[in-house]
Amino acid sequence: MNRSTPWPALPGIAFGGDYNPEQWPRDVWREDVALMREAGVNLVSIGIFSWALIETSEGVFDFSWLDEIIDLLHENGVAVDLGTPTASPPAWFFAAHPEARVVNRDGVVMGFGSRGMASPSSPAYREAIARIADALAARYADHPAVVLWHVHNEYGVPVGEDHSPQSAAAFRVWLQERYGDLDALNAAWGTAFWGQHYTDWRHVGTPAAAPSTVNPAQKLDFARFTDHQLRECFIIEREAIRAHAPQPITTNMMANQSWTTDLWAWGDEMDLVSDDHYLWAADPEAHIGLAIAADLTRSVGRGAPWMLMEHSTSAVNWQPRNIAKTPGEMARNAFSHLGRGADGILFFQWRAGRSGAEKFHSAMLPHAGTRSRVWREVVDLGEKLGRLGELRGSTVRADVAMLWDFESFWAQDLDWRPSCDVDHRDLVRRYYERLWRDGLTVDFVLPGDDLSAYPLVVAPAQYLLTAADAANLDEYVARGGTLLVSFFSAVVDEHDAVHPGGFLAPLHEALGVRVEEHLPLREGETAALRWQHDGPAIELPADVWQEDLDPIGAEVIARYAEGPAAGGAAITRNAHGAGTGWYVSTRLDAAALRPVLDAVYADAGLRATGMPEGVELVTRESAEADYLIAVNHTAEPVEIPVAGEELLTGTACTGTLALAAGGVAVVRAVPARAVRARETSRPDGAALSVP
Ligand code: GAL
Repeated sequence: MNRSTPWPALPGIAFGGDYNPEQWPRDVWREDVALMREAGVNLVSIGIFSWALIETSEGVFDFSWLDEIIDLLHENGVAVDLGTPTASPPAWFFAAHPEARVVNRDGVVMGFGSRGMASPSSPAYREAIARIADALAARYADHPAVVLWHVHNEYGVPVGEDHSPQSAAAFRVWLQERYGDLDALNAAWGTAFWGQHYTDWRHVGTPAAAPSTVNPAQKLDFARFTDHQLRECFIIEREAIRAHAPQPITTNMMANQSWTTDLWAWGDEMDLVSDDHYLWAADPEAHIGLAIAADLTRSVGRGAPWMLMEHSTSAVNWQPRNIAKTPGEMARNAFSHLGRGADGILFFQWRAGRSGAEKFHSAMLPHAGTRSRVWREVVDLGEKLGRLGELRGSTVRADVAMLWDFESFWAQDLDWRPSCDVDHRDLVRRYYERLWRDGLTVDFVLPGDDLSAYPLVVAPAQYLLTAADAANLDEYVARGGTLLVSFFSAVVDEHDAVHPGGFLAPLHEALGVRVEEHLPLREGETAALRWQHDGPAIELPADVWQEDLDPIGAEVIARYAEGPAAGGAAITRNAHGAGTGWYVSTRLDAAALRPVLDAVYADAGLRATGMPEGVELVTRESAEADYLIAVNHTAEPVEIPVAGEELLTGTACTGTLALAAGGVAVVRAVPARAVRARETSRPDGAALSVP
């Protein structure tokens, strides 16, 4: 899409949040804009759930309150990210079009009174979203306050799949376009199994509830179809807006927290990629999950600066235990996003709502008002971001590529896998965590992408790998790349059918190893392996999985000391062309991965930064400068080797920067003199010791 669009027409970094003036009387609006100015807010998202108050009955519009608030915001120097309210159709819409309601896989029709209840395949819904998007764009395209369009809200959440009759009909059309005829469909779905052969298109349905598990290829295609239908709805609105409006158009994704949408395809459709991210409070190191989300968001935007459309100032309201952020945590979160390429830092939401389902959700202006820690931290953050305008447009320098493929994840999530303990989310996190702790920045990529710029490609969970994508990975290694593949990868093709030649077959040459049998472990069982590479042998703890490996050219670097594959190969390294293919056939945690990754880094010409684990350093670069964004997640002060100007305090650092416990800093460094983090080595030199 049109990534060259300058966005938004704002000076510096965007700062603000979702704003719901329709929930408040006019005197509160005036207080809101005054406080927005105090906090340095320069952008708010409005109208996201306001359909019923804008189109009061079919085709009848009331723009009076929107006109008023947009003008008021503009008079106060606050720009508008104008939402289309299509995630929550009005009651009159469902009364007129009951068939537009979503049906879940158990046949339950989703009722009114929540949000996200409409079928993306419903012709009536599609007509209605085009009408409201057109009306809004026609009215506000020329308003100087409007700098961005915010289509819908989090496609695929809470409703993704729809099993209504209109969805089934659309699914058949989609399948006919994909396969042409029933013979091709029967072959792709392997319908000879369990007598599922189809002789008439009218018999093909959605994978709704059935007595036992439903055909996995059918389910995988339904996931693709669901994503396609949602994306078509986005495109309908985008085109309706574009017919009137020049401003960039986005929709807020949920990077690694929603699994219904293939964000790579969505990234291609947006002018500006935006993301909502919420910490998972039960995770004591949720900031690592945050970093994954931020890197994924930047990656699906192919490296362009992006916008953090929502995060929280403190607790959310929808987790089992909604833990408040600790002092300073909100700023650390915001700076992590900024460091990983965000040019806008926005929150859900501006003012805490009194009514409705989200009244216990934190906000920039909490129920306690301005005499509160959260408000003071918001004002402080706004002030800090206000000093960083020059970062806008700079891009992140990544060290390593990691595969992230929604189709593979959808396939792996289907039923009846060898072990319920093998989870792609968990595996991505483990490998990502190792890289994060080592200070290496990750770009996520698809297995079919051009990988030649990356010295190392990590594949933590690539269960589905097409022959074409496998050939791409093979070529990457042959041309000198280092590829690290984790177990239960390259198992099936695009139809969830096992590769001819067995598990891992399309990577046999790159990795030099065959997988004879999967050997999952029992719940809680551990089975160590013995690692020996460039030094004394050490034992590494492992769990969940082993494999019966048959090395066909690869060197065995670690063997199982215990478990069903005891004595057999566990980790292998293969010279292939000018490069190296590593294979890890069991589950290791981030600590046990340390010696493994150190060896892999050596092959790739990379090194850990040597900073204490928990100090996050990411570099954004522009033509003029390198910006080092440092976030100290530890309880100890640290010294960072860097020369330049610290922009938050305006102080010069001549070689080192003292970063307080829990602190953040942004240093403008002259590129030639910048101390490149990856050129320093681990201070303890203890590459083989596992903490
Ligand atoms: C987001 C959603 C917002 C709000 C928020 C609460 O997923 O887009 O509207 O519900 O969650 O955390």
